[in-house]
Amino acid sequence: MQNLIDGRAIAGQIHGETAQRVADLLSRGVVPGLYFIRVGEDPASQVYVGMKEKKSRELGIHSRTHVLPASTPQAELLALIAQLNADPQWHGILIQAPLPPPLDQAVIYSAVDPRKDVDGFHPLNVGRLMLGDPDGFVPCTPGGVHELLIRSDVRLDGAEVVVLGRGNIVGKPMASILLQKGRHANCTVTVCHRGTRDIASHCQRADVIIAALGVPEFLKAPMVRTGAVVIDVGVNRIPDPTSRTGSRLVGDVAFAEVQPKAALITPNPGGVGPMTIALLLANTVRAAEMATR
Ligand code: GUN
Repeated sequence: MQNLIDGRAIAGQIHGETAQRVADLLSRGVVPGLYFIRVGEDPASQVYVGMKEKKSRELGIHSRTHVLPASTPQAELLALIAQLNADPQWHGILIQAPLPPPLDQAVIYSAVDPRKDVDGFHPLNVGRLMLGDPDGFVPCTPGGVHELLIRSDVRLDGAEVVVLGRGNIVGKPMASILLQKGRHANCTVTVCHRGTRDIASHCQRADVIIAALGVPEFLKAPMVRTGAVVIDVGVNRIPDPTSRTGSRLVGDVAFAEVQPKAALITPNPGGVGPMTIALLLANTVRAAEMATR
């Protein structure tokens, strides 16, 4: 079926644009720098940070990964962030979530210089997004979903969009992005979550459904209007005795049954995932451009 949104191809377009901007920076003697911090040994975070660093190197972005033990005191992490804030060779700082307890995510993300906050997690950047101020950094995953929709020519102006999930990394910023004025947003956004009484009735009205709630194969065919656009942000590991590893990854969308009803749908993997990295590296290059203008 020809209704797949090819996230790898669209991410590739963005990487091409980013590579050109890296070349422009290098021609001015600026090497864009991105510093990764990973705390503890969460297996998914190991994979994600590895992929992000590999791609940044491919694009000519100078990068380093700093791995800290899960037992790292908060003061030590804050001291490292302060040192990176003051070091002009690092234009972007990324601290991979989730952080192991008792580290306080809110305190730690507030400590990153907002000009280096390429994740868009600092309260100043969260506020700028809410205010529609284009000077802030937009979180990479919802920013990536927005680019996927724009570059797939999905009509957003006036569209009914349902966002499933209200997390700070995807759901809330996704809703903010699509709520803005402008041709590439201007949506009527409904955010559904654990407290929503009848999620199916909201989904059935939607022109676009963005699933980011972290429940394996939550979105089933009867919840989807024929002709809707479906974006699957979920990455869930579920047991699978037939697999060599004993488990496999599935999204938040029951893909096989939803695909025939969708006008467009993201595959998973190969949909949203590559876009997160593309937006991270675009944000990093923008941080370097702004720091050296
Ligand atoms: N964990 C899941 N998504 C993200 C992200 O976009 N950035 C960071 N830092 N951690 C994450």
